[in-house]
Amino acid sequence: MKISDVKLTVVGVPRHTGFVNKHVIVEIMTDEGVTGIGEMSDFSHLPKYAVDVVDLENVLKSMLRGQNPFDLTLINNVLSENYPAVMYYYEKGSFIRNGIDAALHDLCAKYLHVSVAELLGGRYQEKIKVCYPIFRHRFVEEVEENLAVVRKRLQEGFDVFRLYVGKNVDADEAFLARVAEEFGSKVKIKSIDFSHLLDWKETLRIVKRLAKYDFEMIESPAVRNDFEGLRQFRLKVDHPVSEHVWDFRQQYEMIRHDSVDIFNISPIFIGGISAARKAAAAAEVAGKACLLGTTQELSIGTAAMAHLGSSLINLTYTSDPTGPKLYTDDIVKKPVQYEQGYLLVPDRGLPGLGMELDWERIERLRVPDLSWGNVSVHQLQDRTS
Ligand code: LMR
Ligand code: MG
Repeated sequence: MKISDVKLTVVGVPRHTGFVNKHVIVEIMTDEGVTGIGEMSDFSHLPKYAVDVVDLENVLKSMLRGQNPFDLTLINNVLSENYPAVMYYYEKGSFIRNGIDAALHDLCAKYLHVSVAELLGGRYQEKIKVCYPIFRHRFVEEVEENLAVVRKRLQEGFDVFRLYVGKNVDADEAFLARVAEEFGSKVKIKSIDFSHLLDWKETLRIVKRLAKYDFEMIESPAVRNDFEGLRQFRLKVDHPVSEHVWDFRQQYEMIRHDSVDIFNISPIFIGGISAARKAAAAAEVAGKACLLGTTQELSIGTAAMAHLGSSLINLTYTSDPTGPKLYTDDIVKKPVQYEQGYLLVPDRGLPGLGMELDWERIERLRVPDLSWGNVSVHQLQDRTS
């Protein structure tokens, strides 16, 4: 079997918060008539320049045409040479590699009539506990609307939440106090997430202030790639510390400095299912736990994470992918399913990722390119409109 063509389609999908995220749908065709689908999820992250999708499609065609899709290691190596890791969390090259790697997994599994989880070592679990995000407060007035989000999502079965913090600590504190008061033990806060916005000492001061409220872990409490700062922070707090993996060098440094307790791993930020499996294996070897992070993918990207998570043994903390619940629309006929706060792994009987494109929906969401609208750095950091 040989790859015969590659097609990219750009969509812009609004969230319930009003923020619109741009994603690229990937189709990889073969001479045997089997097509794999993937998703380059969420290019709406800093830095504020746009990938030229027409050029990208042409370049990917020249790289992939004629390759056997089962040569995943070889193809990923070519992709890494062309889109190298650069020690940056939101590196767009990782998003590109991720979309191709997902489509290749879908393609190979479909060809074999198995689900992607079975390609990855089989199903260790059939569902993955996830939490719903509460985006960063900038104003105390936003506390009320975020409490309404908790009320609504709790009714849908989401009883674990994570909270982005660090820009208005009065609002962060007011929110945590009101959650404890209104919901008590019915709602759990998984993490407070500083998104690398602050120096670790500044974070430490805020954590001391918020420590009277219940939360399970602290995420991204130091500036990016400050491995020693993370370690200093980790040794001074009781909570476990988690950090995203965006480069194997960075993960190695975090292991070497014993910087974290939990690795937050997501295919989008490390460049695919294959790379994410390596990161999870490295974590396992280092005796560290994992959780699945997210950029907030659509259903194809989320399904890829469900299959990946299904096969991981050290996925011991609550994970983050809830994209299909955050967006007002999707690109597949049957979106991934959530039940009682769990992401369900698509059924074993469905080949590949278990997702089918819905072209009616896609036409509605299609946009010409990845060009930027008028959004501020704050809006991009805080995912607000
Ligand atoms: C999102 O898009 O909501 C997340 O990727 C935000 C983040 O960077 O953690
Ligand atoms: Mg985070």
